[in-house]
Amino acid sequence: MTRIIGIVSGKGGVGKTTVVSNLGACLAQDGYNVAVIDGNLTGANLGLHFGLISYPISIHDVMKKNASLIDATYKHPSGVDIIPASLSFEDVLDTAPVNISQHIYDSLGDKDFVLVDAATGLDRETLNAIDMCDELILVTHPELPTISDALRTKSIIKKYEKKILGVILNRVSGRDKLKKDYIASFFELPILGVIPEDPQVRRSIELKNPLVLENPKHKISREIKKIAHRVTGKEVKTESFWDRIRSFFGL
Ligand SMILES: Nc1ncnc2c1ncn2[C@@H]1O[C@H](COP(=O)(O)OP(=O)(O)O)[C@@H](O)[C@H]1O
Ligand SMILES: [Mg+2]
Repeated sequence: MTRIIGIVSGKGGVGKTTVVSNLGACLAQDGYNVAVIDGNLTGANLGLHFGLISYPISIHDVMKKNASLIDATYKHPSGVDIIPASLSFEDVLDTAPVNISQHIYDSLGDKDFVLVDAATGLDRETLNAIDMCDELILVTHPELPTISDALRTKSIIKKYEKKILGVILNRVSGRDKLKKDYIASFFELPILGVIPEDPQVRRSIELKNPLVLENPKHKISREIKKIAHRVTGKEVKTESFWDRIRSFFGL
């Protein structure tokens, strides 16, 4: 059974696309059949995280009924199937968001996971992305204004009667005062992972390769792996001695 999981937030720039590319690649490495869809119709950039720069057919064409989902699918060497959104200004202007969940079940029914990278804010493209998904993950910074926006998104998701798997705290630095348990109590949701602020994330985006593929041993890659295990429900493996040493020194 294909699980369509949307990655949403309140504010932009919190790391939704970074989470989709890395979680998608990590799930594929774990042997799952994975597709990622750029649901950010007016701010496409998921393809770029995978080095997919030029593509003739996109999710916009699918929504305009000019192409099938299969036509808009591009295979990444990691095994992840990417369905990018168009970078063209014209496509952005003349495409209305359409719920393509039935197309996903029909054409991508062999996938274990389809991750949808949502737009920011609560306008139609975000609501459409939420509506397309069965389950959602919220991404936020651990700061009050961003959390407040994410809580508003949570309320909307509840109205759509969708399941929320939990919250990912991203770009967390030592200076952040709000603690994980406190934030979990705000959301009344489990914290799926805590991803630190680290320049390697930007570097991997520049290299057009998700960090979990670029550097699987990096502390963020290991955290993404834990998130993947929480999503799949697979038992989290006990950390090795060297993993614990690395965590201790924040490596
Ligand atoms: N953990 C992190 N550490 C450092 N930079 C990050 C981290 N996560 C994301 N970023 C940076 O933040 C920016 C926004 O990330 P992105 O995934 O595009 O957010 P969103 O999709 O929510 O708008 C990107 O330039 C990315 O390099
Ligand atoms: Mg994004």
